[in-house]
Order: sequence, then C-alpha cells, then structure tokens
Amino acid sequence: MTHDWHAWHEEYADPASDLSRRLSVVRDRLGALLGAAPGRVRLVSMCSGDGRDTLPVLASTGGDVDAVLVELDPDLADAARATARDLALDRVEVRTADAGTTSAYAGAVPADVLMTCGVFGNVTDADVATTVAQLPALLATGAHVIWTRGCRVPQDPTDFDGDPSELVRRLFAEAGFEEVDFVRPDDAGFRVGVHRWPGAGTPYQPGVRLFSFV
Ligand SMILES: C[S@@+](CC[C@H](N)C(=O)[O-])C[C@H]1O[C@@H](n2cnc3c(N)ncnc32)[C@H](O)[C@@H]1O
Repeated sequence: MTHDWHAWHEEYADPASDLSRRLSVVRDRLGALLGAAPGRVRLVSMCSGDGRDTLPVLASTGGDVDAVLVELDPDLADAARATARDLALDRVEVRTADAGTTSAYAGAVPADVLMTCGVFGNVTDADVATTVAQLPALLATGAHVIWTRGCRVPQDPTDFDGDPSELVRRLFAEAGFEEVDFVRPDDAGFRVGVHRWPGAGTPYQPGVRLFSFV
C-alpha cells in the first residue's frame, strides 16, 4: 500500500473533520502534559508529519522543551522546520529520517513525552507490539506516550477482531504502562491514548527495528 501523505494532511483543512477533531484532542493532551512538567522536557515525535500537533503547542505553552521530530518525507519535514522557524522555536530539531528504527532517536532520548500519532494504523499488529515493547528503551521514568489509532482505517493492516485501539491498549498494559487517558468519541473513528511509563528506563540501543509502514 502506498500513501500520499501530503493529500492525507489536507483533511486538516476542514476544521470539522475527524482528523481536525483528533488534532485538537492531541494538542490538548500535549499542552496538559507540558503545563504540568516540573522541569525540562525532552519530547520526541515519531512520524511527525508537518508537526502541527506539536509545534503550536510548544509555542503556546512556552515551556522548557527540547523537541526532536522524525519524519521521512522531506517536504513535510521542511514544512515542520519552516513552522518551527516561524514560531521562533529554536529548540526544535526536525530529522528527515526513518522513525521505524531506534537509530533515529540517537541523542534525543530518554524522552519525557513521546508522540506516536498516525503510526499504529499503518503498521502490522506485530510491529505495534514490537514498538510498544521497545518504547521503554526510549523513555525516562514517568514519561508519557501520546498515541492515536483509527478504527475505520481503509485497508486496515490489523488482524484484530474489533476496535484495533483495544489491541493497542492491551499491548501497553502488557508492557507495564499505566493508562492515563483514552478518548473514544461515539461519533468518530479516531482514538487517542495517553500512557505513562512508571518503570526504570531500559538501555537505549541504536539499530533496533520498531516498525515499517505497510
Ligand atoms: C498518518 S501521517 C501522521 C502525521 C502526524 N503524526 C499527524 O498525526 O498529523 C503518517 C506520517 O508518517 C510519515 N512516515 C511514513 N513512514 C515513515 C517512516 N518510516 N519514518 C518516518 N516517518 C514516516 C509519513 O510521511 C506521514 O507524514
């Protein structure tokens, strides 16, 4: 399956779209985490697109945040860089790189906030499981993960019978994460989860494959 990720971002132009509603939930949860942070925050966004779920929140909260956004598409990565520049966010680094390998996060982890939005609906269940199981190697103790999963994804790669966000929740629970929030609107197919990692960090290792988009 190939995707036109530029076209995918166009749904954001409609403020009433499910994607725009999802964006608002993600921004809200990110803002709350940054607002409650006791000190410096290291933020990582996997498959960050043009960074619209992150960069305006960094600008409006104005906290002590170092952010690394990882996006494979060079134009979307450039768009994120341009937005960061426009918002005078000089502690944002946008890496044009494959977010599916831990090598992409060298020097940016352990993260206090990790965003994996628009990822789990594009990879196999096995890759979701691998990614969730490997996240502690990218996280500080007490870190939060903001994730999304659609339940009406065209050509959904899941084999799970039912709402695939339930599989994601189960995988986080099995890996030892605590669920902080889970948003499941009755009238829309998007889901947003926030999970906290309570354990000790595990050692970071480059070169570990997390996922590949199908
Ligand atoms: C569904 S979009 C989500 C974008 C953004 N996180 C959001 O929610 O607005 C998926 C994004 O992942 C990017 N992508 C696909 N494969 C990738 C990879 N291996 N590494 C980094 N980014 C990737 C695409 O270019 C696209 O921008």
